[in-house]
Amino acid sequence: MFVASTYVKKEMFLESEPDLVIIHANELITMNTAFGAPRKGESMSELAIFYDGAIAIKDDRIIFVGSTDELMSKFSFGEITRKIDASNKLVTPGFVDPHTHIIFDGTRENELSMKLKGKSYLEILKEGGGILKTVRETRNAPIEKLIENGKKILYRMISYGTTTLETKSGYGLTTESEIKILKAIKVLNEVHPIDIVSTFLGAHAIPTEYENRANEYVDLIISEMIPRIVKENLAEFCDVFCEKGIFSIKQTRKILETAKRYGLTPQIHIDEIVDTYGAKLAADINAIQAGHLLKSNDEGLKAMAEADVIATLLPGTPFCLMSNEYAPARKMIDLGIPIALATDLNPNCWTESMQMIIALACYNMRLSPAEALAASTINSACALQRQDEIGSLEIGKKADLIIFDVPNHNFLPYQFGVNLVSMVVKNGKVVVDI
Ligand code: NIG
Ligand code: FE
Repeated sequence: MFVASTYVKKEMFLESEPDLVIIHANELITMNTAFGAPRKGESMSELAIFYDGAIAIKDDRIIFVGSTDELMSKFSFGEITRKIDASNKLVTPGFVDPHTHIIFDGTRENELSMKLKGKSYLEILKEGGGILKTVRETRNAPIEKLIENGKKILYRMISYGTTTLETKSGYGLTTESEIKILKAIKVLNEVHPIDIVSTFLGAHAIPTEYENRANEYVDLIISEMIPRIVKENLAEFCDVFCEKGIFSIKQTRKILETAKRYGLTPQIHIDEIVDTYGAKLAADINAIQAGHLLKSNDEGLKAMAEADVIATLLPGTPFCLMSNEYAPARKMIDLGIPIALATDLNPNCWTESMQMIIALACYNMRLSPAEALAASTINSACALQRQDEIGSLEIGKKADLIIFDVPNHNFLPYQFGVNLVSMVVKNGKVVVDI
């Protein structure tokens, strides 16, 4: 059994009668931050497990985590306490999905047959498909439609265990349509129990009307979009799709340095298809997280390790692009880079399921189930700068958790392609009960 000193400090919570207790969990994975946040290297495998574990919740907060015996001796339950027996079940922190693109209109299932015929992602984009097709449809969609589309995705996400996510603009590429998308995100955050962190990704593609005038589009982002978005308080992070033929290193640096001056935290899509020295840039500009990283060179990866940039790995994307090449996760862990996992949900790679991503990470990037779970909870909370609130089950933190109908965490990748969730608790309330 794991006992950490941090629990002892917060005895004051024991005064209150819990609203909800979960007892007899076969494994209760706390992902305690005593092992570091973010976890790196060997500590990525430290789950801080209680066997026959229990947790008590008051309002939206965790007031006790420990063994069932200890919980029983510490609390007396009145009528109001709901008790959930988690015998033979696994309890984990709620999944934090730190990189998604959920606000768009139109779908791209037609691109599957192009990919089957060997067309590459960048070829499809060059022909006006890919991101540019989604941009045309999203520009034409009213905000109400975008909100409805987003709600469907959030409904699936929460039923698969995601309790917090990051999502981006990037399918508007005009000031007004980027703002429309960010406003849709804001509405969804207000009306849906999932917490949503918002990112401005005006630099997702060069819009058709700026073809061969990419620098002018970068100027528009810098001089008009970022100031408006910051003024209207519509984003916390700023992202760029830095890739050969999309935004160059120089343009990316310019955009993210401006974003920083305006108070937005930088993150980047880098080195997905070609190594453009994106990893080095991520370190230089102190990005909080960088996504993809399939082609990053060792020098860049070492710089990321030194600068503590979180590598957000997105194994759903090479899977959907029918590639056999995945990000070198083992090398990154050996270098001490903290790893997070995300769905990257977008019209090219459409999955709401972090369970699917955990399976892909284990089978195709050779993460252990424990590492994949750390990457989907505490480390992904760090990628969103939310580690003080979420990502682990500790006294005082938000009561966001998942009860899985499996006996241990090794089942998460092992029994794949199905939803293993039994219940999801968000902000202290049972929001999914399957
Ligand atoms: O992270 N690479 C850039 N952006 C997304 C894909 C967006 C799209 O294809 O619509 C990604 O994979
Ligand atoms: Fe992405």
